[in-house]
Amino acid sequence: MSTAVEQDLGRRFRHAAGRFPTGVTVLSTVEDGLPCGMTVSSFTSISLDPLLVLVSLGNGSRTCERLRRSGVFAVTVLADAQQEVARWFAGRARPDGAGAFDGIPWRPAPHSSAPILTDGVSFFDCVVEQVHAAGDHTVVIGAVRAFDVLSDRPPLLFVRSRFGRLTE
Ligand SMILES: Cc1cc2nc3c(=O)[nH]c(=O)nc-3n(C[C@H](O)[C@H](O)[C@H](O)COP(=O)(O)O)c2cc1C
Repeated sequence: MSTAVEQDLGRRFRHAAGRFPTGVTVLSTVEDGLPCGMTVSSFTSISLDPLLVLVSLGNGSRTCERLRRSGVFAVTVLADAQQEVARWFAGRARPDGAGAFDGIPWRPAPHSSAPILTDGVSFFDCVVEQVHAAGDHTVVIGAVRAFDVLSDRPPLLFVRSRFGRLTE
């Protein structure tokens, strides 16, 4: 149970950190043939040799649990027209399993078979390389086994709790 002071600190931290703009991705995995995914803005590319990427996932996340068991994941960088997709994969209303992807064009990633959202702008298909406990989050480093550009659409952005798009 956190105190009012701790809650205020958390709010102020989110307020300051949220001024750092990010892209938006859907991270997916597949466990025993059951695909699942969640919206993630903590995606970062971290190394060229070897190819490594990083995501930071809340410890309560169902997708994080499954990713740790399956040992694989894929990340789709979303296009600016995919705001509703970003909201959907962040919401609790979506069904568990393949139903979450109904009506959303996807195909299995070449290495992991985790869903890639084909209306996105690029994807990274990964094997879990390292997992680090980090407070109330888990930092996952993935070794990239396949990646590609999906389209030249502009990316979806997220800053100050709002979605945005690039302007000239
Ligand atoms: C724009 C945006 C970015 C998000 N980024 C992250 C993130 O980097 N890590 C995380 O754990 N949750 C993030 N979330 C929240 C998760 O998408 C949300 O908690 C989701 O319901 C988790 O699903 P799960 O419990 O089924 O895995 C983000 C949400 C939004 C709207």
